[in-house]
Amino acid sequence: MAILNIWKKPRPRSLRKWHQPPCMKRTEYFAYRGSELIDTNLAYLRRTARKFLGPKSIHKTRFVPVESRSWMTELSIADQFINDVQLAKWGDQNRGIPPFNWKDVPILKDPFSLAVYPLLLWELKPATVIELGAYLGGSALWMADMMDTMNIKSHVYSYEIKRDLIKVEHPNITFIQMDLSKPENFDHEMLKSLPHPWLVIEDAHVNIYNTLSVFDKYVNAGDYVIVEDTLFPDTSKVEQFYAFLSEFGSGYEVDSHYTDMYGYNATWNLNGYLRKK
Ligand SMILES: C[S@@+](CC[C@H](N)C(=O)[O-])C[C@H]1O[C@@H](n2cnc3c(N)ncnc32)[C@H](O)[C@@H]1O
Repeated sequence: MAILNIWKKPRPRSLRKWHQPPCMKRTEYFAYRGSELIDTNLAYLRRTARKFLGPKSIHKTRFVPVESRSWMTELSIADQFINDVQLAKWGDQNRGIPPFNWKDVPILKDPFSLAVYPLLLWELKPATVIELGAYLGGSALWMADMMDTMNIKSHVYSYEIKRDLIKVEHPNITFIQMDLSKPENFDHEMLKSLPHPWLVIEDAHVNIYNTLSVFDKYVNAGDYVIVEDTLFPDTSKVEQFYAFLSEFGSGYEVDSHYTDMYGYNATWNLNGYLRKK
């Protein structure tokens, strides 16, 4: 009878016999099962490799030197997921408001950033938020609304080359029309006068080496500089981010609390939550 008991033990998922649902054609069924097997086993192999060869997921200290960080990410094989998130952010051009929006105004933020920013705003309580790249103004409005509900006294300055894109108004937001490829056009006196702490968010994806170099002069210890969308390695933004870090990185620490909240670099902003030392 022992042999029968062994036979009754549940088999691993990949060996389990699956039944073809009546609604599926046989070819569809095999394609579906095949892709599931590849998906599951690739994820398993990756998890094993990551466990033995990858960077440690959890840093012992929260603020870590830039040079101690790797560019590996828990999202490295999640192409399909990344594409789906991009679609939720940008929407289908022919179908009105994108699935993710704030009060009907699109916000081009991924789910990890959407979860992390409220925590960062609450913790930092920035007196000044500087957003580079406003798009329609959705993200500026979202942050200003959140800070209202948190009773944080703050003002958002959001830069955008195409002023007529902006769809929103809020007493604590100033939209500034400027071409960020010409950092000499920043109003330096105005920047110097803005109260700290600062939260600077780079989301224009233009000339970021020069722009971040300008802000490096003005940020104080404890201010944050967030560089978004560094997940896409073959962009000039990422090249410029590396260049910025190799020159100015020693003045910053990566906040691993926000960067690794959902796993090592499980964010669109790889090593992108920087706190000025
Ligand atoms: C990714 S979108 C910003 C999204 C917005 N921060 C959000 O989360 O919803 C980038 C914006 O940067 C603007 N931009 C592009 N080049 C620029 C430049 N040279 N100067 C200023 N803004 C620029 C674009 O017009 C676009 O609206």
